[in-house]
Parts: sequence; structure tokens; C-alpha cells
Amino acid sequence: MSYAPKEVDLVIRGAQVVSPEQIIPASVAIAGERIVAVGHDDCMPPARQEMRADGLFLLPGAIDSHVHFRDPGYPHKETWKTGSAAAACGGVTTVFEMPNTNPPTGTLEALALKLKAAESSYVDYGIHGLLGDDTIANLEQLLEGGVSSFKAFVGNTFGNLPAPTDGALLEGFEILAPLGIRTVVHAENSSIMARRQGQLQAAGRIDPLAHLDARPAVAEIEAIGRVLTLAEWTGARVHIAHHSAADSLFLLRQAKARGVDVTAETCPQYMLLNTEHMRKLAGVMRVNPPIREPRHNQPLWDALVEGVLDMIATDHAPHTPEEKTRANIWECDCGFPGVETQMPLMLTEINKGRASLMDYVKWSSVNPAKAWGLYGTKGVIAVGAHADIAFVDMARAGTLSQGRLQSISKISPWHGRSVQGYPIHTLLRGRFVMRDGHLVTDAAGWGRNIKPIQKMPTPKPRNTEHYSGAIVKASAHESQS
Ligand code: DOR
Ligand code: ZN
Repeated sequence: MSYAPKEVDLVIRGAQVVSPEQIIPASVAIAGERIVAVGHDDCMPPARQEMRADGLFLLPGAIDSHVHFRDPGYPHKETWKTGSAAAACGGVTTVFEMPNTNPPTGTLEALALKLKAAESSYVDYGIHGLLGDDTIANLEQLLEGGVSSFKAFVGNTFGNLPAPTDGALLEGFEILAPLGIRTVVHAENSSIMARRQGQLQAAGRIDPLAHLDARPAVAEIEAIGRVLTLAEWTGARVHIAHHSAADSLFLLRQAKARGVDVTAETCPQYMLLNTEHMRKLAGVMRVNPPIREPRHNQPLWDALVEGVLDMIATDHAPHTPEEKTRANIWECDCGFPGVETQMPLMLTEINKGRASLMDYVKWSSVNPAKAWGLYGTKGVIAVGAHADIAFVDMARAGTLSQGRLQSISKISPWHGRSVQGYPIHTLLRGRFVMRDGHLVTDAAGWGRNIKPIQKMPTPKPRNTEHYSGAIVKASAHESQS
């Protein structure tokens, strides 16, 4: 009896498939939403559609752990439809969206509004719920309702959500640790920053660099240290958002060495921009944490290469041109769009030889998939995985232009920057959401919540070696377990 393989939906031929270990010439067959074969051209099953991708690289679709799509609450800045369109056009197939919307995503009612807005998404998504003093009682029901993870705004930022008290943070971690759920932390010390900002304002400073002066690196060092202390004590998984300072990397390095389950992201702006750009771009570049002096750029890059930082996220945080260009720096909203420009910016650096494409997929897709419990289904081009693929042309050169962004807020510090290396098609679960550089508009709504496929691994027992036996035994934590 001869074996007749079933016809599949799509076979992609002629490309190179990228993973952290290798770049290999291979064809990829897709049936429905999943990859069913990766291998030699001659071994592909018959397909309804054949596609040549000669000269292109196939990367697992990028997973951006940090976007603000502003919906509900600020639809004049961004909506799920426009934000996710930007993701699709940036080679990003999954996003994790932040809770500083209005209402903030800390109650079931607010979550319902967010899930409704997300129905128009072009890309798959996870929802970070809010961990704050007022939401501790809601954490478990938010998880049941569809959030994948939590966010604690330990440093103040857009939305002005009060920072959780240390007591609430500890309690939140105690609830989430046994569940294996990871909490994203905006790690800056609010009290240091409020006091500094007050002094700078009283002295009449309104210039762009006053923003950096109000948020010194020690605010990040202190907050990361505090969060890691509580995470280590409770065994909670944490994720440091937008790591900005070279000076706080040692804390991550040490905590990881002791077995703390901490992951961390940085963003292109912290590696590629600095105070030199701030003088010219002023409020357009205002963001929290601030973009710092040039001396921070290279150590952040090196930390990614070393694995102290795990991933690239964007902190896609759109505000309108009017909100970004006021003369007084304190009146400029913090943040800017990024989900659409991350891949060309990073590929440009890869083209310059600063790291390999294999490194890049680790930072853009593999490590985020692992951090959020998606790896295997996402983050990899392999049999059984979702067919989430960014088709990348490393030779294509161009200039980033804010006017062409999918975001509503068409203002970006990257405007006018030369890049080489673009995603040109984006496939999400077998369906193109971007093709030949154009959004596939009828794919709006194809995106889904990743919650049903999320599998956070069982947490490992805490490493308590460096605590004294007496303290560990006397703690409330130990007596509970
Ligand atoms: O600059 C920022 N803007 N940093 C954040 O952490 C939040 C963001 C926003 O939501 O606008
Ligand atoms: Zn953010």
C-alpha cells in the first residue's frame, strides 16, 4: 500500500528557517492553524497553495510582552484595531497588553470591556491584569476571567495608578507564587521621583533633560532590588519591564544565579537612543523609565547577549503628536509607539553584526514564549506549533516614517532613521495578517486570547540556602507551607 499524504493548505519553499540553534534551508507545510512539516523540499505534502520565499528568512512571529493599546479609555491615542495592525505590520504575532487603561484592568467588569475591545485584534494577545492594593482580592477571579499575568506599577507613569504598597505587593506575590503566574513590574521608586520632580519644577526646570534628572538610575536599582527581595522570599515569578539602566543589571545577574525566576526585557530605545537624541527630540522621546546617557546603551545590548536580559519588548505607548510636543517637558505625555518598528530596528543591528539572527529570535520570540507559558505552541517553527511566522528580508533597506505607521498616534523618535531588514509578510495561525508590506484588512478579529493555550510550568521549590535557617523557620511563609 502506498502512502498518500493529505493535501495541506500552504507550503512555503525556498526560505531559511531560523531558531536559536541554527539557520537551515527548509520548506514549511501548514494545515489549518498549525505547522505540519518542516523539512526538505522533496518531502512536502501536496498543497492547495504553494509559495516561494527564496532569499527570505522565516522567524517565529515576534512576541511583544509589553504594549499599551489604550482601549478602553483613550481611543484617540490607539485602539486594539490600530495597535494590533501595527503589530501585524511589524512581524509581531502575539502581544501582551497592559492594564493602565480606563478603567484599569483590575476588576472583572473592566476585563470584560478589554476583552470586548480585543475582539478586533489582528494578532493573538495575552492580558496583563492590574496588581494594586485595591485589586489583591480580585487576582484569582481575573485569572479565571482570562488574564494571563499581572502588572504592578511600582513606578508611577501614564494613568497615574497608585503604586502598590510593599505590603500589597508581598501579598500579591504570596497569592500568585503557588499558581506559577508571572507579574510584570514597572520598577522605579515613586517616592524618589516625586520628590525630585517637585524640586526640579520648583527650580523652574522645564527642559527635556529635567525628566531624566527626576528619575535617576538609583530609582530603578532600588525598585528592582525590592521586587526581587519579595519575589525571592515568596517564590513568585516576576518580569522586569523596560530595563533601562546599566547600573541595575547586577541585581538580575545575582538573582538569576540564586535561582530566582526573574525574566527581564529591554526595549530598542534604551539600547539605540540616549541623551544626545533627547536634546533634539525632547518630548517625543519622553518615556518612563527615561532614556539615559550614552554609557547605558552598550551594556544593555551586552546583557541581552549574555542572557541577563531575556527579551526585547517595545513598551508601545502611543500618544498624539499634540500630547508629545508641548514646550514644557512635564506636560508631554510619556511613551511612544514601538511595536511596528522594533523588528526593522533590531534587524538593522543584526545586519551590522552586533548579534546573529539566531540570537534575535531568542529575544524576540523564544524567550517571551517561555516566560508566558506558550513555548512549543508559539515561539518556534516546528511540527505542531502554531503557524506564526515573520517572513524577513534582510536585504531590504528603507527609512522609518512616522506618517506610515498603523498607529493612530503618528509620532515617533525613530522617524527618518535608516534601517535594513524588514518583515514583509506576517502569518498568524496559518493566515496572513500582513502581506507584501500591507495590512490584510479583513484579518481584523483573527487574533485570539492566548489564555487557553497558556501552560505555566510548575514552580520549582525556592532556593533558601542564603537565608539563615532560623529566619526561614520563623517566617509566616514557611509555617503556611
Ligand atoms: O512612558 C511610559 N508610558 N512608560 C510606561 O511605563 C507606561 C507608558 C504609557 O502607558 O503611556
Ligand atoms: Zn509600558
